[in-house]
Amino acid sequence: MKKILIFASGSGSNFEAIVKHFGGNCAYCFELLTDKENSGAIERAKRLGVKFHHVKFKNTFEFLLNKKYDLYVLAGYMRILPEDVLKLGTFINIHPSLLPKFKGINAIEQAYNAGESKAGVSVHYVVGEVDSGEIIEQESVEIKSDMTLEELECEIHKIEHKIYPNVIERILNEQI
Ligand code: GRF
Repeated sequence: MKKILIFASGSGSNFEAIVKHFGGNCAYCFELLTDKENSGAIERAKRLGVKFHHVKFKNTFEFLLNKKYDLYVLAGYMRILPEDVLKLGTFINIHPSLLPKFKGINAIEQAYNAGESKAGVSVHYVVGEVDSGEIIEQESVEIKSDMTLEELECEIHKIEHKIYPNVIERILNEQI
């Protein structure tokens, strides 16, 4: 059985898409780690019956130290993990831009306001520097001239919910 720890601080829509993709397959066991006591991700974990851990950011290393996961998946975890944590295993992240463009927060809005013709999603390995690790997969979407920011955000999230579970499955099956 593969054990996967998903880190999420926010609404948790990617967390839910990942868990649902694997649909209770016993070969994969998911847990949630959140640094936010009232995160939407916790509500989703309760609804989905996924074990969750509320861990303050400063206690992350201590929490992980004597545990073993096959993969660590950041899905809207709004913190920069230190090197001692990153050394514990393989960490991946999803970012709503075509990296290396538009790192950091509000990436969709940044691309939209910059008048780009395309935006997109990147899945990448996590390194100490924000949104800078090796890219595993990217998918782009055209920013049509009549598109609102909300419509673009919606398109981006649809792509995220599709490509992140697929990349995770391929990593766990050693196809990447
Ligand atoms: C996503 O847009 C993801 O790319 C970024 O944070 C957002 C998390 O959204 N890293 P959600 O909490 O999964 O809905």
